Amino acid sequence: MNDHAEVNIGVLGCGQIAQAAHFESCAKARNARLYAICDVADDLRDRMVAMHAPDRAYADYDAMLDDPAVDAVIVATADAFHVPASIRALEHGKHVLCEKPLTADLDEADALAAAVRASGRVFQVGHMKRYDIGLQEARRFVTDEMGDLIALKAWYCDSTHRYAMTDALQPVIVRSDRSKPPPAPPKSDLRRYYLLAHGSHLVDTARFFGGPIAAVRARLSDEHGMHCWFVDVEFEHGALGHLDLTVAVRMGWHEGFHIYGQHGSVVGTTFNPWQLTSSVVDIFRESDAASYRPLGADGHFYRRQVEGFADTILHGATSGGADIDDGVASVRALVAISRSTVSGGWVRLDEVDGSL
Ligand SMILES: NC(=O)c1ccc[n+]([C@@H]2O[C@H](COP(=O)([O-])OP(=O)(O)OC[C@H]3O[C@@H](n4cnc5c(N)ncnc54)[C@H](O)[C@@H]3O)[C@@H](O)[C@H]2O)c1
Repeated sequence: MNDHAEVNIGVLGCGQIAQAAHFESCAKARNARLYAICDVADDLRDRMVAMHAPDRAYADYDAMLDDPAVDAVIVATADAFHVPASIRALEHGKHVLCEKPLTADLDEADALAAAVRASGRVFQVGHMKRYDIGLQEARRFVTDEMGDLIALKAWYCDSTHRYAMTDALQPVIVRSDRSKPPPAPPKSDLRRYYLLAHGSHLVDTARFFGGPIAAVRARLSDEHGMHCWFVDVEFEHGALGHLDLTVAVRMGWHEGFHIYGQHGSVVGTTFNPWQLTSSVVDIFRESDAASYRPLGADGHFYRRQVEGFADTILHGATSGGADIDDGVASVRALVAISRSTVSGGWVRLDEVDGSL
């Protein structure tokens, strides 16, 4: 660790998510710094060096891992590389923040979980919504004040207008023909892609509030190119759940949740992540028949995620982020949802295997 109690981070991958979130987050974090970047694409890496001025830049991932000044790695590559890249970093003694979803394959997920446990390093999954102040305050209410959770509905509906929104909000994304592509183009199978890319956020939000998921029953409609999964959820603690994953709905970004509890309720609206705006959350207490709405002025959940990760590394603080078990559970839920759309019946998460 360097003298200023900052975590030196090496970011693997200079693609879209690194450019739109991780480079800036490391630069702004109060307890971390963008120490190194790595990408096989020389032109892309050089552009990112010019823009973000890391101390080191590597074409070769092993060379970055051999650098003793790198404390932790953010794995910001295509999904197919997440597990091997994370295991390699752990073997080099680095802490890891790995982008979501961990993988599409449950055997691979289990292998990573074993590697995390053997390493004793901090491992976190990039479910950055857990650092949304609105969601954090809602969860605090659910855990500390609400009593029994009776039912939860959550929806994540990507918008047909999403690129108009994200193009306006993100920096211009630099691309390179020399980037390392995954074995199959991620969007060659849209059902799989949407479940992995978007469904992983929805499932993690449901688990964040409702705890472990026992079983799911899902239906899928893909009329007119609109993929719509309606998922009945049975939480292990007995609550009823319903998830709606729709890509893309014919309206603006539409994401949120309703939580019904013994002593109160929560109504939440979440925004397109690139707006960097905390969810608007109305928390209603039955005891005084009144609601409150936290401001959540700091909406930079990507930066807050890096800071939580770094706090755990530096001080052993509870990160508040998704750990390896959360990451594996999300993949398990996605596989179960996919299986259920085929069988039409309930699928228990502890009975699924294979991959999406
Ligand atoms: N949390 C979020 O809100 C969010 C949003 C978008 C994407 N993501 C996730 O981020 C991940 C990355 O997505 P992306 O669109 O930025 O990917 P990308 O393919 O655009 O970029 C990845 C980069 O990594 C480089 N790379 C891959 N393996 C390498 C290796 N071994 N050595 C050196 N360089 C290597 C590639 O050359 C490429 O430039 C995905 O898993 C995606 O699901 C998360």
